[in-house]
This record gives sequence, C-alpha cells and structure tokens, in this order.
Amino acid sequence: SRPQIVDNHGRPLTYVRLAVTDRCNLRCFYCMPAEGIDYLPKKQLLTYEEMERLLQVLAGLGISKVRITGGEPFLRKDLTYFLRQVKAIPGIEEIHITTNGVLTEQYIPDLVNLGIKSVNLSLDTLDRERFHKITRRDEFEKVMQTYYALLANQISVKINAVVMEGQNIEDIVPLAALTKDHPVSVRFIEEMPFNGEGQHYPVLTWNYRKIITELQTAFPDLYKVSDDVHSTANHYAIPGYKGNIGVIAAFSRTFCGTCNRIRVTAQGGLKTCLYGNDVLNVKNILRSGASDAALTEELLKAFDSRAKDGYEAEAQRPKLLSVFESMSMIGG
Ligand code: GTP
Ligand code: 5AD
Ligand code: SF4
Repeated sequence: SRPQIVDNHGRPLTYVRLAVTDRCNLRCFYCMPAEGIDYLPKKQLLTYEEMERLLQVLAGLGISKVRITGGEPFLRKDLTYFLRQVKAIPGIEEIHITTNGVLTEQYIPDLVNLGIKSVNLSLDTLDRERFHKITRRDEFEKVMQTYYALLANQISVKINAVVMEGQNIEDIVPLAALTKDHPVSVRFIEEMPFNGEGQHYPVLTWNYRKIITELQTAFPDLYKVSDDVHSTANHYAIPGYKGNIGVIAAFSRTFCGTCNRIRVTAQGGLKTCLYGNDVLNVKNILRSGASDAALTEELLKAFDSRAKDGYEAEAQRPKLLSVFESMSMIGG
C-alpha cells in the first residue's frame, strides 16, 4: 500500500488544488479589481511537464485527489492535454475542476471522455444584470448553458455562490430552489478577503449562521444531511428535492480541524493553508535541477510545519491588508 503523509497536527494530506493559470475572463469584484491583476508572464507559470512531475511526487506521498483551478482553468492552452497526463499518473484517483463556466461547454465531451465526473461552477446569481454587476462581464447566458450541458452529460455539479450584502441576497432562495428539480449541490460561501486589493476588506455581514437562518425561513422543512469528513460545506436538503444545499464557512473557518488539502498557486508556490503565505517555492526547486528525493524532502518539511487553522495563519501575516492576493492567483 502507498504511504500516507500526515501533517504536524495529525491530518492526512490527500488533496492538492492546482492553479494552472492566474488569468480570468471575468472580473468578479470580490476576487480582483476592475482593471484585473498584473498577470504573470508565461515563463513564470509552471509548465505542464513541471506540474506533472510535481503531481507524481505528491501522488507518491499519498495525494490522490487533484482539483484543477485558476483563474479560469480553461484559459490555459491545451488543458485537455494536461488533464490526460494527470489522469495517467499512478495514485491520482480523482480529478475535479473548478470553473466559472464561460468557456466550459465546448470541453464537456473531453471531460466525459476523460472520466471527469464532477465540476464546481461559480455562479453567484440567477439574474443576468446582477451577474454583470458582480463579474463586470455580460456572460450569464454562457454560464447557464454550461450548467445545463453539465447536467445533461451526467457530470455532477456543485454551484459556488459567494454571498454578499447588497449584491445577491435576493438570489439565495432561487439558487437553493434549483435543488428541487436538479441533482445539484448549491453551496453558499462566506466572502473572504482575497480580492487583490487591500482597501476593500469585506465586512462579513453574511456569516454561515445568517445564511442558514435565511434558508430555514424560506424552507422551514430544511433538514441537515451528513457531511463527508473532509467537506468544507455543511449540507442541508429540502424533503422531496433532488439536490442538496451547502454552506461553506470559508471566512469563519469551521473546518480547519479536518483539512486535508494543500495548494499550488499559478506561480508555483506551495500553500499549506489558504490563509497562509507561500511556504515553499516549488517552481524554483523544480527548475534548480533538484532530484525527486530532494523535492520530496522539502515538501515533507513544509507538511510538518502546517498552521493549525486559518486564524493562526492569518495572524502570522503582516498586518498590511494589501498582502491579500487575488483568489485568481491562489485558485480558491
Ligand atoms: P471539494 O470539497 O473538492 O468540492 O472542493 P471545494 O468545495 O473546497 O472547492 P471549490 O473550488 O468549489 O471552493 C469552494 C469554496 O470554498 C471557495 O470559495 C474556496 O475558496 C473555499 N475553500 C476551499 N478550500 C478552503 C480552505 O481550505 N479554507 C477556506 N477557508 N476556504 C476554502
Ligand atoms: N471570497 C469567497 N470566495 C471567493 N471565490 C473567489 N474569490 C472569493 C472571495 N474573495 C470563489 C469563487 C470560486 C471559488 C474557487 O472561490 O467564486 O467559486
Ligand atoms: Fe471570478 Fe473566479 Fe475569475 Fe476570480 S477567478 S474573477 S472569482 S471567475
């Protein structure tokens, strides 16, 4: 059997989130400023060969789940080629993708061929104008087409909706109501301060408790369903409905105790907590001619000094709010 790496707090690490690009075709205001972020020159991104090697090494340590993120992952050229390479890595059992859905529909046949069974789709509203206001782009129709095409192809869909005062509160109930006829998981997420601009630190008006209360008021029969051990979401359902509803306390961080994930940013930095700084420059190691054994040793050191929770990690950051990167760089 394969080794299973455990961190310094006894948590198994089985899941890597890999940001394949920092670029995005939307400009969600909670993620980046209107003018976008300064995109990395291509040579600063990990190449597909570098990412493949890293994943091979991670798989050897017990990582079995990969989530491809971005920016918008489908903006990276030949993503399907890379997905095929990842699929062939021994030990990688699951590949998932988080996408904004703008370009995704045309790749669904590829996803089906590759056996990619689940996609997380960012969708904060069911109203075209509010979508335009939040994302600063008029792409609502394309995202909805992707949503229906994913369902039609039996790819399981989780919708991610960031809940924001003054933006999409009126969407909470209609989004939750999608679970009536669709076997979808609709997840409401607390807003986090990863917007690439220091001056706009969100005041968390809508924490997970308030979101749950709102749902209970609209759906008095709402009941709790069991959660996967490593789930970031607390799940609920409505009797007779096909899907389920999740609430992700991403800012309140109720799930750090079972966190099984690490992250590799678009520029090849390793994060062992979303709220923490990069703990290792993987790109430099990969480009320094280091052996797999040397890379493994550096990774193990990083896994052995993980923050216990995001609050601890955040407290370690310099107090300057401008240190908060854009989610487009980290990959969520
Ligand atoms: P699965 O459990 O594999 O479905 O992934 P996920 O739900 O974590 O992934 P997704 O990319 O859909 O992210 C959903 C939301 O949860 C995003 O807003 C993430 O930033 C947030 N999130 C994911 N992981 C963490 C984490 O480790 N800590 C915190 N605080 N938030 C997270
Ligand atoms: N707060 C909460 N969630 C965010 N996302 C992006 N930026 C933020 C933020 N500041 C979400 C996206 C996507 C997921 C990967 O992260 O909506 O669904
Ligand atoms: Fe929006 Fe995601 Fe693009 Fe950020 S990376 S602008 S959250 S779609």
